[in-house]
Amino acid sequence: MNIPKISEKDFIMILTGAGISAESGIKTFRDSDGLWENHRVEDVATPEGFKKDPKLVWKFYKERYFQSLEVSPNLGHIALVDLENKFQDNFLLVTQNVDGLHTRAGSHRVIEMHGTLLTCFCTKCSKKYTMKEVDLEEIIPPCLACGKPLRPDIVWFGEMPYRMEEIYAALDKTTVFMSIGTSGNVYPAAYFIAQARQRGAKTIGVNLAEPENSSYIDYFFQGKAGDILPSLVNLIISN
Ligand code: OAD
Repeated sequence: MNIPKISEKDFIMILTGAGISAESGIKTFRDSDGLWENHRVEDVATPEGFKKDPKLVWKFYKERYFQSLEVSPNLGHIALVDLENKFQDNFLLVTQNVDGLHTRAGSHRVIEMHGTLLTCFCTKCSKKYTMKEVDLEEIIPPCLACGKPLRPDIVWFGEMPYRMEEIYAALDKTTVFMSIGTSGNVYPAAYFIAQARQRGAKTIGVNLAEPENSSYIDYFFQGKAGDILPSLVNLIISN
């Protein structure tokens, strides 16, 4: 494995996508048999879709929430915990995933930029709840405070991803950027690697298929994250 020289003085930013959870049994979005093959993005992942058919949207995210409780983190998630333990505050994991698997694996410095399946919030008063607190038997669960409809805590297309200021501040100091299991189709996440590289960061990619933004990757490892990350992380840690 040919990797760049990385020392403890480096700041590592990781961006993960659906591919890292694929080996845990969660479908990706754009691969064959991916979620977007059987669902229209506009119907289940936009504010307009929710307005038009909140029952359908809630059904979609309840199924995904219950599935997320049944699966477990895989070797890819676990390798990133080891990397964080080595780099501590010089590490940030930004994920587009909403399945909570990084946190369950033991990662702490995590930003879930597209939200999470584990919480929801009120469309009227914005009060936030864990899914465990609300009545998921209800087709459209109501707010316990004001009775108005709750919505999944997912960043839909057309909405602003979470914690962007923190992400851009970290990008400014990133010297090693690693993109894992993401097709590079969805912005702004797909552009982080280019921004890091423009500022002089070395870039690493781990992906099953070549991603859309592969021209920004200096070191590309093609294959499954669960196969590649344990040895790649070991190499970085012992570098
Ligand atoms: P995609 O489904 O677009 O891409 C998944 C990528 O993971 C593909 O490039 C696959 O080749 C790769 N892959 C599959 N299995 C893998 C494995 N075992 N190891 C490594 N790579 C693997 O998913 P994302 O890029 O995450 O947003 O999609 C980005 C956003 O689009 C999602 O967060 C979601 C979606 O619409 C919202 O819902 C807002």
